[in-house]
Amino acid sequence: METENLQKSQGAEGASIAQEKTPETPENRPVAIRVKNLYKIYRVGESKVRALNGVDFELYKGEFVAIVGTSGSGKSTLLNMLAGLEKPTKGEIEIGKVHIEKLTERQLVTFRREKVGFIFQAYNLLNTMNAVENVALPLAFRGISKRERLKRAKRFMKLVGVGDQANHMPNQMSGGQQQRVGIARALVVNPQIIFADEPTGNLDSKTTMEVLRLMQKIVREQNQTLVMVTHDNNLASYADRRIRIVDGKIVGIEVGARPDGELTDRSEACHQEGNQGGEQDAARLPEQSDKEDITVKETRGAQ
Ligand SMILES: Nc1ncnc2c1ncn2[C@@H]1O[C@H](COP(=O)(O)OP(=O)(O)OP(=O)(O)O)[C@@H](O)[C@H]1O
Ligand SMILES: [Mg+2]
Repeated sequence: METENLQKSQGAEGASIAQEKTPETPENRPVAIRVKNLYKIYRVGESKVRALNGVDFELYKGEFVAIVGTSGSGKSTLLNMLAGLEKPTKGEIEIGKVHIEKLTERQLVTFRREKVGFIFQAYNLLNTMNAVENVALPLAFRGISKRERLKRAKRFMKLVGVGDQANHMPNQMSGGQQQRVGIARALVVNPQIIFADEPTGNLDSKTTMEVLRLMQKIVREQNQTLVMVTHDNNLASYADRRIRIVDGKIVGIEVGARPDGELTDRSEACHQEGNQGGEQDAARLPEQSDKEDITVKETRGAQ
């Protein structure tokens, strides 16, 4: 019932969005996440840690945003609040028309299952399951048959370029392949928003660029919002906007991806034609039937 209300209210917003004027600019795009006056204060013994110390911003549908800051600045805390993994001490987080800070734990479980995807630095694959079973797992709670779950999982594995690794166990894959499986698992439920916490932290620089560009390309094609936490300015420069955070406060928001001319040697190497592995092919939506399926699910929230 509560879930129904959640979906209905988001649906109502989607309908009004569809009537908005074009062309879209960042300013008139629909807001995906609105954060107001957000605080997270941890108690450690007698003292208090202000992990988030009054944060306000808006993220738009379809944009790729990086949250950038040094270790301990509050990046993961912020991401965890946005994703409904932790409750704020004070403040508001609106996703669609839903105030997620007001949801019960049960409602938050539904919210996380249906609305968001996660990509973690440590991949977080289950070692007892093979790759395709890992990708299919988030679909298990949705009353979809096993056959259909595996079919969808395979389609997303193909999309991210690990179609041939379906039967591999996590320890039989490279770090880059495991992270692609992690990305497929995040995408399989077709979430409105994807949260990634240092998603390339365990990868070498070439694989980092491949994975980054893959995530960027897929969320663009499917008009999803990607929020990525990183301490790496080079990676962050590929985002549409960068939110800089110091000691739990936003110190600046930069707009615009870095022009190609300023790319460093490391990323430049990955810009060369033919030097991107199978990424380009892998990121293309594979078949018409797949595309339809993805599009139908993508617009579900706007019905
Ligand atoms: N559960 C907790 N209890 C107490 N303090 C915490 C807790 N989680 C985080 N903190 C503190 O909040 C601050 C922000 O932590 P956070 O994990 O958000 O940093 P971060 O920017 O993600 O850092 P890193 O780049 O190292 O992952 C730090 O000072 C940290 O020690
Ligand atoms: Mg962190």
